[in-house]
Amino acid sequence: MMSFIPVLGLLVCIKVQVFAGSTAVTPVFVQKGHDVLLEVRKDDVPEKFVLFLWTFREDVLVTFTPKSEPIVSERYTGRVEFSVENYSVKVKNLQETDSGLYTAQVTTNKQRTVAEYSVTVQDPVSPVVLTVDSVSRSTNLCNLTVTCRTQDSHISSTFTCDTQTCSQEEGERSKVTASGASLQVYLVNDSIICNHSNQVSWTKNQEQTKIWNFWPRNCGSENLSAGFSYCLVKTAVFSVGLIIMVSAVIGVHLMETFKKKNQEETKKQ
Ligand SMILES: *[C@@H]1O[C@H](CO)[C@@H](O)[C@H](O)[C@H]1NC(C)=O
Ligand SMILES: *[C@@H]1O[C@H](CO)[C@@H](O)[C@H](O)[C@H]1NC(C)=O
Ligand SMILES: *[C@@H]1O[C@H](CO)[C@@H](O)[C@H](O)[C@H]1NC(C)=O
Ligand SMILES: *[C@@H]1O[C@H](CO)[C@@H](O)[C@H](O)[C@H]1NC(C)=O
Ligand SMILES: *[C@@H]1O[C@H](CO)[C@@H](O)[C@H](O)[C@H]1NC(C)=O
Repeated sequence: MMSFIPVLGLLVCIKVQVFAGSTAVTPVFVQKGHDVLLEVRKDDVPEKFVLFLWTFREDVLVTFTPKSEPIVSERYTGRVEFSVENYSVKVKNLQETDSGLYTAQVTTNKQRTVAEYSVTVQDPVSPVVLTVDSVSRSTNLCNLTVTCRTQDSHISSTFTCDTQTCSQEEGERSKVTASGASLQVYLVNDSIICNHSNQVSWTKNQEQTKIWNFWPRNCGSENLSAGFSYCLVKTAVFSVGLIIMVSAVIGVHLMETFKKKNQEETKKQ
């Protein structure tokens, strides 16, 4: 019981720290090259203030004072738009180096933080490629092993399908890539989906599991990507063979009938 007290104390401390200055940090994710709008609640800005600043690290982006025009610092000239009505700023064309904490501070008789944004700039994710690695089949079940591959990561998963549906076996379903994106493999309706996503974008690649259900039985154990054309070739060869055989039988039959007729006619004469 006693051991709870220090823990409780720690929790209280953490809570106090997070809410110090009466603002919570708002996390924002922005795609590289896009803009971000940073706003403050009108109620949080006192009517009579001396100074209002938007800052990033050591830099001041914009300075508002009640009696004169706002000043955009040299570093941000052309990259920042502001509103004198509501003290919002828009930072344009964000790059990785623009990631970090943006703070709005108001000075009256004392200084107060009125808004904080934790901005993370991300590249859109790279494409993901789905490949079917192996297919094994028993009488009424088949196992498909697939791999989802991106530039810096991959994940494999096995699916068991019967003639109606597929299900995902236990094992890896998602992982975080080296670049902090998420790579997932899952089933939606009749498709296996590879999904590569971060907070600003996602890419997908999918494979219809339905194809499998229409698969000719005797082609089951073959490599799926190669197997399809192989099956077509087999079917084509078989069909052509069948046509030749049937034509031959008909041909022979016709010739015999013709011969018989001829013989009968010569007999009559
Ligand atoms: C503040 O003004 C900007 C520019 O006029 C506008 O885009 C934004 O929606 C406004 N924000 C609020 C909270 O009113
Ligand atoms: C498919 O996988 C399941 C579970 O991993 C296994 O029990 C079964 O024998 C496998 N079937 C084939 C045809 O490989
Ligand atoms: C799955 O199938 C249902 C019913 O056909 C359809 O409404 C839904 O949009 C499908 N979901 C996806 C992700 O394709
Ligand atoms: C991929 O994942 C993202 C993030 O979880 C989600 O928003 C998106 O809808 C997913 N796409 C598909 C096709 O499931
Ligand atoms: C499947 O076929 C492709 C293309 O012919 C080949 O590159 C791959 O190695 C084969 N995979 C297996 C598991 O046989």
